[in-house]
Amino acid sequence: MARKVQFVETVLRDANQSLIATRLPYDKFEPMLSTIDKAGYYAAECWGGATFDVCLRYLHEDPWERLRKIREKMPNTKLQMLLRGQNVLGYSHYPDDFVKLFVSKAVENGIDVIRVFDALNDVNNLKVAMEATTKAGAIASGTISYTTSPVHTHAKYVEMVKELKQMGASTICIKDMAGIMGPKEAYDLVSAIKDAVDLPIDLHTHCTTGLAFMTYLKAVEAGVDIIDTAISPFSGGTSQPATETMAYALRQLGYEVDLDDTCTKKMADYFKGVRDEFIADGTMMPKSMATDTQCLTYQVPGGMLSNLLSQLKQMNALDRFDEALLETPKVRKDMGYPPLVTPTSQMVGVQAVRNVLDGQRYKTVSKEIKAYCRGEYGRTPAPIDPEIQKHILGDEKPLTGRFADTLAPIVDETRKKLEGIAKSDEDVLSYIAFPNLAEKFFDERKAKEENVATYTITEA
Ligand code: CO
Repeated sequence: MARKVQFVETVLRDANQSLIATRLPYDKFEPMLSTIDKAGYYAAECWGGATFDVCLRYLHEDPWERLRKIREKMPNTKLQMLLRGQNVLGYSHYPDDFVKLFVSKAVENGIDVIRVFDALNDVNNLKVAMEATTKAGAIASGTISYTTSPVHTHAKYVEMVKELKQMGASTICIKDMAGIMGPKEAYDLVSAIKDAVDLPIDLHTHCTTGLAFMTYLKAVEAGVDIIDTAISPFSGGTSQPATETMAYALRQLGYEVDLDDTCTKKMADYFKGVRDEFIADGTMMPKSMATDTQCLTYQVPGGMLSNLLSQLKQMNALDRFDEALLETPKVRKDMGYPPLVTPTSQMVGVQAVRNVLDGQRYKTVSKEIKAYCRGEYGRTPAPIDPEIQKHILGDEKPLTGRFADTLAPIVDETRKKLEGIAKSDEDVLSYIAFPNLAEKFFDERKAKEENVATYTITEA
């Protein structure tokens, strides 16, 4: 019998985040939810990542309400979210009580699959979120943040996968956020993991460097079970390969694909219109749709290149771009080869720019890099260069245990603080994650309710 390959649709989360800075409001995708639900996906990735932040910051939406509405319209498809381990959706580490409550509320509001990753692949940062996911009855997808370096061997990844399984992972995700995984690496890594554990494997990549379609094909040959794709109008460039294209090619090769072509056609027609609106208003930029192979040369993800450019532009130092680009992999090496993903990509990029502009390496150091050297972000893939670490920390000793163990519980105290303001534990969680944004959102919500009330009274 033909082997089945399953699909995760990313248009609502990663494609949305990669191509239009997550600016897709609920009302714009609502008409397609029942179609996506009927299309036969393994899951729809629709929450977490930057969606939470952007809902509050720009879209005036309650992220929790968005999730409940999606759930209601999509009763048959698993809803998936992306969660940054102990960072949850933010950029710093949170105490365990927050991580646990966030995960249980996410599941209660409709999430079925939580893809848990850590920027450093430190499993200690994944444990609490993974266990909370399983406890809440959802699928914990233990995730590898894929990168290449002298210390990122397949043997190391396999070792990590075994640890993830022990922590309760029911699936494994290989997350290639920069789109740097080539077809051979995909074949070899998927084969190695398949040999070591009997869990379904999901491969996640981006088209940024143009490798993605080839990479998926070889991964499927090696036995990958699930691939992440985006409906065609929101595919390609910095997003995922197109859903329909992968389905077409895999069927031609004899694989079984459960997708309903009538549904994907309807989705493509609809999202074409949505895409065109975002092109017209300038949100979707042509450069995010292009293939950029620089990343393969410099090992610097596409998003980081544009950040480097804008940083240098702000400092009137665009002429130093080449130097900053060459400095970036050196800083990464000094820091023990962290995968370049949020937040480490920003930290390494900013430090590279400082090293170049100061004319002296590590003369100035951000508080984030200092915290990183103290061990607050977790165990680094290779040791941090001891001399540089000593220079940055002075007499301070780096942490030996898990940073979150040093953090006091935060939920109860925030509940008390928000009495009369927060309407639910979900509000409390929004506030802990993004205090300023949540406060503004609560004010707006209150004003809206009062307006409605006033209006009703006047009308009556
Ligand atoms: Co991604």
